[in-house]
Amino acid sequence: MKEALPSVWEALQVKVDRMIRQIGAKSPHVAKADGIYDDMRIDWWTSGFWPGILWIMYDMTGKEHYKDAAWSWDEQFEKKMIEANNYHHDVGFQFLPTAVIKYKLTGDQDAMRRGLFAANFLAGRFNLAGRFLRAWNQDKIGWSIVDSSMNLSLLFWAAEETADPRFAQIGRAHANTVVDRFIREDGSVNHILSFDPGSGEFIESLGGQGAGPQSSWSRGQAWALHGMANTYRFTGDVNYLRASQRVAHYFLACLPDDQVAHWDFRADESPVGIPRDTSAAACAASGLLELADAVPSAEGALYRRAAERILFSLTQSYATWDQPEHEAILIEGTGNFPASQNIDVSLIYGDYYYVEAIAKLLGWKNRIF
Ligand code: GLY
Repeated sequence: MKEALPSVWEALQVKVDRMIRQIGAKSPHVAKADGIYDDMRIDWWTSGFWPGILWIMYDMTGKEHYKDAAWSWDEQFEKKMIEANNYHHDVGFQFLPTAVIKYKLTGDQDAMRRGLFAANFLAGRFNLAGRFLRAWNQDKIGWSIVDSSMNLSLLFWAAEETADPRFAQIGRAHANTVVDRFIREDGSVNHILSFDPGSGEFIESLGGQGAGPQSSWSRGQAWALHGMANTYRFTGDVNYLRASQRVAHYFLACLPDDQVAHWDFRADESPVGIPRDTSAAACAASGLLELADAVPSAEGALYRRAAERILFSLTQSYATWDQPEHEAILIEGTGNFPASQNIDVSLIYGDYYYVEAIAKLLGWKNRIF
């Protein structure tokens, strides 16, 4: 991968410049076979990823057109916050790649205020009895999901920014639940856990976007791997580092020959094979690079090489370099297999984590998550 990096970076700039023109004001989520990104509602959990790509490109190049295209997203999110909306625990996925990184890179005070507003919103979803962040809205009062592992960075950032430890206390309490309950002994991961919202008692594990309650949804694995590595970076608590490593080792052991994860590592074989999920692959690669920096260098090299193998395969076999009309970077993502939604598509979060991982390989030091 090392030798290919300069040309990949060159191709990525050409690609993202074209995406700016193609995507325009859309909030992209999924591109199906026609290669055209949809325009999702602004409070959908994925709305931060496209601006996140733009902020990384700005940070890496200093080119103003990336900043200009990224600038107004956090303002749009704030407007939606005070209207009827369906924001939930995924405000981390939305405000970290917009408000928080904007503040870090430009010092914009409105962006900082918006980031803290979102952190307060996320902290308000903490269930004290069960020690978890509530995931979704409506009747899912006692549900918590592994995806929240990635949203914890918003709380840890807010704790540092305000010197108010409450945010970090909540972040650590939820992270402990991830370690104790979501991550199984063998390093595989539950997607959804249901708790009694009053007593906090554990009720059951639900299959969610995985093949079943005891399966191993690969994107859930990637959320836990990357999220616990981030939590270690913020807290220095080795318990989170070990948890991330446990998930990483299981993830790597399950990879097929071409290094790009199937959508669930315990999915049944089917006559047409098991669909890949390139978004899980990209997110795990970025998490592995986080681990590479967290452990002694000889061991870190193993994680780095594993990440490079995944990224090389994505670059060679799952990218749209030779399809200029295609609005996404990666193909063969799986959104929600059990719901028959968005299978064999491009997903904006797959594109985001690919860019994030490539930037890390090139020495990008600021972090969004
Ligand atoms: N956070 C929802 C998903 O990973 O599809």
